Amino acid sequence: MTSDENLAAVVSTTQGDYRVIVGRGVINDIGAEMTAAGLSGRAFLIADVSMFPTAVHRAHEALERGGFVTNVMTMELSERVKNMETVLEIYKWLAGHRAERIDTIVVMGGGVAGDLVGFVAATWLRGVAVVQVPTSLAAMVDASIGGKVAINLPEGKNLVGAFHQPKLVLQDVAHLATLPEREMAGGFAEAIKHGLILDPGLLDTFERQAAELQSLDGDLPVRTIRRSVQIKAEVVSADEFERGDVRLLLNYGHTIGHAIENVSGYGKLLHGEAVAVGMMAAAGIARRLGMIDEELVNRQRNVLQQYNLPVTVSGVTTDELIAATKTDKKSRGGKVKWVLLEGPGKAVTRSDVPEAVVREAVDEVIVPNEQTGT
Ligand SMILES: NC(=O)c1ccc[n+]([C@@H]2O[C@H](COP(=O)([O-])OP(=O)(O)OC[C@H]3O[C@@H](n4cnc5c(N)ncnc54)[C@H](O)[C@@H]3O)[C@@H](O)[C@H]2O)c1
Ligand SMILES: [Zn+2]
Repeated sequence: MTSDENLAAVVSTTQGDYRVIVGRGVINDIGAEMTAAGLSGRAFLIADVSMFPTAVHRAHEALERGGFVTNVMTMELSERVKNMETVLEIYKWLAGHRAERIDTIVVMGGGVAGDLVGFVAATWLRGVAVVQVPTSLAAMVDASIGGKVAINLPEGKNLVGAFHQPKLVLQDVAHLATLPEREMAGGFAEAIKHGLILDPGLLDTFERQAAELQSLDGDLPVRTIRRSVQIKAEVVSADEFERGDVRLLLNYGHTIGHAIENVSGYGKLLHGEAVAVGMMAAAGIARRLGMIDEELVNRQRNVLQQYNLPVTVSGVTTDELIAATKTDKKSRGGKVKWVLLEGPGKAVTRSDVPEAVVREAVDEVIVPNEQTGT
């Protein structure tokens, strides 16, 4: 039976509408949800090895119980192997099982898994149905929704990809129990970002109920993830192909965040951690432009720190970071479109920010080595 009590959002796209289910234990409903989404045929469950064995077995059983004859493949799906070789390995497996157009690929894992296996689904037989079962908080509130799928090349991240919307996104909050703490914090950075840019009420919840949210116990964490998911779903539905400025709002903190990742090397700071520092730099810019007051900057810093996120960075220079913002994928012709707050839960884009202001704000988030951290 499908349950609407766990329905977080319906994403509306040119490739069809799909449900995003968020709840505890919802993996047990996967078969029924897939049937309700119009899927039949066999299921090919491809799972990140971190979910093996318990969660993978549970998903397998739920699929079979729901009437889907299922083949399972478990493999490492990390940033290191988010490449064409891994894609080929999966193609070979699908070929070996003669996976057909009517079959469905189910991907269980973090954002890497969703992006890579989603890319496989977009290209296998010119596109087969995919169901996303994100298991990291970052993938739940962000990567699993919106249909962007990609793999890395040696030349850069996510250079080869497609828009391939899932038929269903099923998020079982119980899966987060095994997620490493730092990964959890990184996911919170993106979820808090949704509050900062679009929902003051969500921001309040993150501020006031940090301990309860991080414990993952009870109903509040589930409801809060659901709300964060809703925001991403609304933005995607409004701006599926990132043509307007709406989806750009999700880039809050990412201009400097990406610059930090680029300059300090991927892997030192987690993406969400770099975004947390990036949001502090963006807040510094907005304050200097008179868009927000010091109080909101402090509120943002406090909420990030409550989730053990860094608000400063070391080992990089302002010059390096500013140079990196100009080569960012999302800047056009070297001109950066900044996402800045105008108030709590209210973000806008601005392309007229003087470099001197950026420089001061970036300076402020860089500290000497020994002071780094939260
Ligand atoms: N498609 C999009 O719109 C979009 C948006 C944002 C990010 N991304 C992509 O997502 C990726 C990052 O995703 P991520 O932050 O989830 O990282 P990830 O997929 O690397 O997962 C983080 C780590 O946690 C492990 N893991 C995941 N779930 C777990 C669980 N429940 N228990 C134990 N371990 C678990 C993974 O094995 C991995 O080691 C990047 O490649 C990025 O490009 C895509
Ligand atoms: Zn991000």
